[in-house]
Amino acid sequence: MSEHVVFVLGTRPEIIKLAPVIHACSDAKIPYTIVHTGQHYSETLDSVFFEQLELPDPDYNLGVGSGSHGKQTGEMLIGVEQVLEEIDPETVLVQGDTNSVLAGAIATSKMDIDLGHVEAGLRSFDRSMPEETNRIVADHISEYLFAPTVQSEQQLRREGIEEERITVTGNTVVDAVYRNRTLAREKSTVLSTLGLDGRPFFLMTAHRAENVDDEDRFRSILRGVDRAAHERDVEVVYPIHPRAEQRLAEFDIEVPERIRTIEPQEYLDFLRLEAAAELIVTDSGGVQEEACILGVPCVTMRDSTERPETIEVGANRLCGTDPAAIARSVDEMLGADTGWENPFGDGNASERILEALGVSIERGVA
Ligand code: UD1
Ligand code: UDP
Repeated sequence: MSEHVVFVLGTRPEIIKLAPVIHACSDAKIPYTIVHTGQHYSETLDSVFFEQLELPDPDYNLGVGSGSHGKQTGEMLIGVEQVLEEIDPETVLVQGDTNSVLAGAIATSKMDIDLGHVEAGLRSFDRSMPEETNRIVADHISEYLFAPTVQSEQQLRREGIEEERITVTGNTVVDAVYRNRTLAREKSTVLSTLGLDGRPFFLMTAHRAENVDDEDRFRSILRGVDRAAHERDVEVVYPIHPRAEQRLAEFDIEVPERIRTIEPQEYLDFLRLEAAAELIVTDSGGVQEEACILGVPCVTMRDSTERPETIEVGANRLCGTDPAAIARSVDEMLGADTGWENPFGDGNASERILEALGVSIERGVA
């Protein structure tokens, strides 16, 4: 590699998890360009993270926005290809499993440019999830695969990917959490703003298509979380993703009183809420990891997870969307020993990624 790196990103989790790699590039004085697909565009899912994580504005924003999978991915593919033709970089980095990743990966793989996939080798083994298709395709067409754990590396090897292409780096989410958790503790006033200081509460997120686009599943989730909260006599704080908010309106669902929906939170406030919560209930990938890193018990309202490490260390439990199963899992996780080891690395994943690309920089993360 690597005179010039292009980051193709488009959604909240990609901004958060690529931010440490972008900062590492800046530190190492590697020239880079940020190409934003525009998949996320609402301020609360997008620009607020660029500001708070002190990232430069994207050099390009393709402004693709929302749409069906084919339309959204197709428009991003055309846009990314045009930009890559113009910039002609040595390397493109994508992170995760969204449609932005799929488009960035496919566009790159058809050109004479190396592709690196950050967070490679995750599998839910549920092919009905669009994310599963996206990550499998990105992995199989990448030159550099940055696996967060040995388990994800082994999965890639089982799929026939050559050892030389894979580097176990840890997950860059650890870099992001380590870099920001003290700041969150010092700067965020979210607990007092929400009247949560000194009060036990559960933090909830639910936004995955397989849950909130299905009226029965979404109702079931809300019933289950409400039941668990009643049993513990706590409030639930639910920063709500716009997809979920739209579905609430469309299905005419009334959110139970104990669940307080609030706007999507900026990163420091969300980290503060995660760290202070008694327990987290979620269907998010990144939130499962962060709960595990922060030592907060987690219950995942899905039938599968591509983060089995969180379950193996005892930090997380899968419960699907049945109300009784949600309440039971919450109860069990609240009784769990929280002294587990973080399986996602030491907070130096970004530096390892750059090293694997042939760049040597000084170690050390705040
Ligand atoms: C996408 C990812 C998902 C990831 C999530 C992170 C895919 C297939 N899915 O889901 O894996 O967990 O991002 O948050 O890539 N909307 C807004 N403002 C925005 C963006 C979206 O209001 O800035 C609304 C629109 O109504 C849109 C809906 O949310 O139709 C869904 O957006 P979309 O980008 O299709 O998928 P996400 O649910 O965000
Ligand atoms: N997040 C945030 N504010 C919120 C909800 C989530 O900053 O209100 C962060 C969270 O800390 C994590 C990331 O968003 O780093 C997870 O993104 P999301 O749940 O949207 O996507 P997924 O990880 O499921 O793909």
